[in-house]
Amino acid sequence: MFKGVLFDLDGVITDTAEYHYLAWKKLADDLGISIDRQFNEKLKGVSREDSLRLILAHGNRENDFSQAAFTELAKTKNDHYVEMIQSVSPKDVYPGILELLKSLKHAGIKISLASASKNGPFLLEQMQLTAYFDGIADPAAVQAGKPAPDIFNLAAQVIGLKPEECIGIEDAQAGIRAIKASGALPIGVGKAEQLGTDIPLVESTSELTIAFLEKQWAN
Ligand code: BG6
Ligand code: MG
Repeated sequence: MFKGVLFDLDGVITDTAEYHYLAWKKLADDLGISIDRQFNEKLKGVSREDSLRLILAHGNRENDFSQAAFTELAKTKNDHYVEMIQSVSPKDVYPGILELLKSLKHAGIKISLASASKNGPFLLEQMQLTAYFDGIADPAAVQAGKPAPDIFNLAAQVIGLKPEECIGIEDAQAGIRAIKASGALPIGVGKAEQLGTDIPLVESTSELTIAFLEKQWAN
């Protein structure tokens, strides 16, 4: 039996993946760079700075900004994003997630956050979910962002487990690669077109019951 579950946040616990996209789109539009939802699949799960690098490269603008200007652009995106998430509340938690957290707690399975977002702890507070988490991996403390395994390794470590003893849940291509590299068992939230056909997928978080997780672990 698995001993821990390592949760991504944006796009798994709530719909903030959409806010990240809208905030990046606003910044990109202001720079005259066109991004769409298909391009956004490459940004999901990726750190703020790496996302900005991908967007600037997409618009052939990667050499146009000094380090200071780059930092300012990243801050502008985060300002847009932070404004959007102020109204996030418990009613924004995706279907089935609260029930899953409760049943994991009841079963004595440890719960950890493996989000690349520095806004993760604020969002858990807004959704009144902080108390369910036995650990939160600090994205500022890892060397390499997703698709590197570091954040999942740390998320397991902060709850006293090895990644191999855990299930990781992700909605992003970069995140699934990170889970695989860590040795945890990946479960994807989304469609096979984006996430591949080689791992268990759910289209809705309401399918993420403890019975479903147990079944994937046993397979
Ligand atoms: C991930 C999101 O969870 O966090 C990415 O999927 C985002 O879109 C990344 O870029 C970093 O988030 P933040 O809030 O620290 O800019
Ligand atoms: Mg995500």
